[in-house]
Amino acid sequence: MSHKQGRITTQTLQRKKSQKDPIAMITAYDYPTAKIAEQAGAEVLLVGDSVGTTVLGYDSTIPVTVEDMLHHSKAVCRAVDRAMVIADLPFLVAHLSNDEVLKAAGRLMQEAGVYGVKIEGEAQVINNVKALVQAGIPVMGHIGLTPQSVNQLGGYRVQGKDAETARRLINEAKRLEEAGIFALVVECVPEELARTITDQISIPVIGIGAGRYVDGQVLVFHDLLNIGGTFSPSFVKRYAEVGELIHQGIRRYVEEVKERKFPEEKHVFRFETLHSNQLLSK
Ligand code: KIV
Repeated sequence: MSHKQGRITTQTLQRKKSQKDPIAMITAYDYPTAKIAEQAGAEVLLVGDSVGTTVLGYDSTIPVTVEDMLHHSKAVCRAVDRAMVIADLPFLVAHLSNDEVLKAAGRLMQEAGVYGVKIEGEAQVINNVKALVQAGIPVMGHIGLTPQSVNQLGGYRVQGKDAETARRLINEAKRLEEAGIFALVVECVPEELARTITDQISIPVIGIGAGRYVDGQVLVFHDLLNIGGTFSPSFVKRYAEVGELIHQGIRRYVEEVKERKFPEEKHVFRFETLHSNQLLSK
C-alpha cells in the first residue's frame, strides 16, 4: 500500500476527533462493494470477521480463519484508493503467542495490504497489542460486546449496564490506549458509557450500538442495506432495501428466461459474412 496523497491515516482520524468531525466506517468484504463504499465517502473499511455471518453462512464469527480474512482483505484492498482498510484478527488469534499474532497481522499487511488490524478483547490481549504496536502495526481495539466471545457472554447482549462492568470497560479502554491502539470500537453499550469513554481517552472511539456521543460510527454493510438479513439489531438503521431489490431483479430474470423473453434481439450476436442457412445446410 503506497502512502498516496489524501489517504486516510491514523493522523487523519486523530485530527477528526479533535475537530469533532465524525468518522464513517463500514464493513466491506469484496471488491465491488468496497469500491462503492469508498466512493460513497466511507473513510474506514473494516474487513470484519462478520464476513462469517454475512457472506460465508456461519451462525457466528467463530469459524472464520486467517485464510478467510486474507482472501476477503485482498479483494477489498484491490478496490481502495484512499480509505483506511482494517482487518479483524479472527477468533483465538489475539490470544495466541506474540509470534503467532505478529505472523497473522504481518500476513494481512504484507499479503493483502491492509493498513492495520482490529483485535477484540481487553486485559487478556494487552500483551499482544503491545507486541503488535512495537512491531509498527496499527491496532484498533474492540470492547463491549465482542462477538468472538458470544458463547461466553451468553448471546449478543448489551454490555456495561451495571456500575462495575461500566467501570471495568472505562479502565480497559484506558489500558488499551496506553498499550498504543490508535482507535477503539465500542459495541453495544449504554450511550452514557460510550460518551464517558470517548471523553476520557484521547484516541478516536467508533461506536456500534453505542449511541451518539462517540467520534464515529460503524455498521455492518449487510445490516444497513438489509441484504440477506432475517434478524436486525435495534441499533441498526436500514438505509436501503437492497436484498429486496436483488430478489426482484433475479425473479424478473428467471421469469423472462422461462417465458423466452430474454435474450432479446439486441442481446444476440450475428455472423458478419455467413448466413445461418449456409451453416445449417449440409
Ligand atoms: O466484524 C465486524 O463486523 C465488527 C463490527 C461489528 C465492528 O467487528
